[in-house]
Amino acid sequence: MTQPQSPYQRLGMDGFDRLTRGFYDAVPNDDILGPMYRNYLAQMHEVDPADDAALAPHMEEARIRLRDFLVQRFGGPTTYSDQRGHPRLRMRHMPFHIDHAAAERWLEVMFASLDDMGLEPDLYRELRVFFTQTALFMVNQ
Ligand code: HEM
Repeated sequence: MTQPQSPYQRLGMDGFDRLTRGFYDAVPNDDILGPMYRNYLAQMHEVDPADDAALAPHMEEARIRLRDFLVQRFGGPTTYSDQRGHPRLRMRHMPFHIDHAAAERWLEVMFASLDDMGLEPDLYRELRVFFTQTALFMVNQ
């Protein structure tokens, strides 16, 4: 019997690139998520949080962290853990004030990108369920 294909086998690196680009394209101008990502990355890299050009390369690095995490989680190469160690996602999100409104917004933005991909229903559902459960698990307020 043939093994079912992993989401990574079905989407490829290109699919996870498109998904995370759609998400990160919307983040900087989102009224809830924008300030969180901007302020964090600006502080890490000592740039002005309102300076889009200065932030852009750091947003791109953040997008790659999310892409590599998802690739690893869904059956692709383990580049994320090779570079960042164990994901410990809930712990890594503790510095951010994540209430239900923030988690719901994160999901809305991710689902908008997911919807644009035109995935087959089973794959679409698998990703939606994973994102929903993980986002709710990040709530820390
Ligand atoms: C619930 C709402 C969420 C908020 C407000 C939020 C916010 C953030 C912020 C501000 C960062 C820092 C950007 C960076 O340096 O990478 C971050 C990082 C990250 N987030 Fe989230 N996040 C949320 C949910 C999620 C979910 C559901 C996932 C996974 C599906 C996720 C995966 C990641 C990953 C992999 C990183 C990079 C961690 C690292 O290696 O440093 N986040 N998040």
